[in-house]
Amino acid sequence: MAQSVLLTGGAGYIGSHTWVALREAGFHPVILDDFSNAAEDLPERLRAITGTAPEIWRGSVLDADQLGRIFAAHDIAAVIHFAARKAVGESVRMPLEYVQTNLGGLTTLLEAMRAAGVFRLVFSSSATVYGVPDRLPIPEDAPTGFTNPYGFTKLAGEQVLQQLAASDPRWAIGILRYFNPAGAHASGRIGEDPRDVPNNLMPFIARVAVGDLPALQVFGDDYDTPDGTGVRDYIHVEDLAEGHLRSLSALLDGGGGHVVNLGTGQGYSVLEMLAAYGRACGRVLPHVIAPRRAGDIAACYADPTRAADVLGFRARRGLEEMCVSSWRWISWRTGREG
Ligand code: WQD
Repeated sequence: MAQSVLLTGGAGYIGSHTWVALREAGFHPVILDDFSNAAEDLPERLRAITGTAPEIWRGSVLDADQLGRIFAAHDIAAVIHFAARKAVGESVRMPLEYVQTNLGGLTTLLEAMRAAGVFRLVFSSSATVYGVPDRLPIPEDAPTGFTNPYGFTKLAGEQVLQQLAASDPRWAIGILRYFNPAGAHASGRIGEDPRDVPNNLMPFIARVAVGDLPALQVFGDDYDTPDGTGVRDYIHVEDLAEGHLRSLSALLDGGGGHVVNLGTGQGYSVLEMLAAYGRACGRVLPHVIAPRRAGDIAACYADPTRAADVLGFRARRGLEEMCVSSWRWISWRTGREG
């Protein structure tokens, strides 16, 4: 009998790729999602990739009754908690909504888990909890901080979980600090699919590649980096999904909790990403230098050692595959392929 795993926000970018990885590993992944940032045709695309129609409960992680019904309907072995708001800029404009959704959603979920006797949780965190890093690459024991309400909710969420685990040994919690997710499933049928204006670099580059944007705005070229543009640790979303599977398996195997970076340890600049995407789509993609974006840091990349030591996880896919897979997805999604 396949073990059931609840994926809150499982219809999102990382969640949907993790759903595929869990399904292919023999789990029964159950999605809870309000589809506020997911396309209505996603379930059919997940079925097309795996041959299995996903079990989806439409609703919010803030709905305790809905959570109770899910835990009553399934013997949930563990929960992977993706459901959260994640746009830095939006969080500055709407701090209360970010606290309500990201922290209120977490505590509502934890209460429902405890009531159901489910104590294994994988938590979606972010390198944003390092604030402005004081060293590179960044190890997990680097100082933490926040520079915006989104980062606050991620760090506060981690600390709620650390205190919960310290108070009750039944909890086994994996905290995964994502660096910069990028790319798409190799099938080209799921990928980053922002409903409105994208927040992140690769979806913007993809919009230039399909001709929806005339040029990429490069937010500053005067940083203290090799080519002056921002350096980040991009990790392929399929590697990220694998990292969740490793964390889940460690918890199910009776391993204790862990806090790990999910990154490659390799930084790439904005211009390097743009050039790589141009090679993937077969043309030079135009850019203009724009002013720095408020809150941006020069460089950020992971020390990935602990994930390898604790979970046996290493990212395998490189920048080229992130760009090729993204281009395959976005050209299919927009009908520009061929
Ligand atoms: C990457 C680089 C920009 C767009 C954010 C969150 C983080 C996580 C990942 C949730 C930077 C530059 C971007 C553009 C550009 N999200 N850029 N032109 O800011 O590193 O991280 O997303 O967990 O928490 O903070 O990612 O993709 O926005 O930017 O020049 O149109 O690309 O300046 O150097 P970021 P990003």
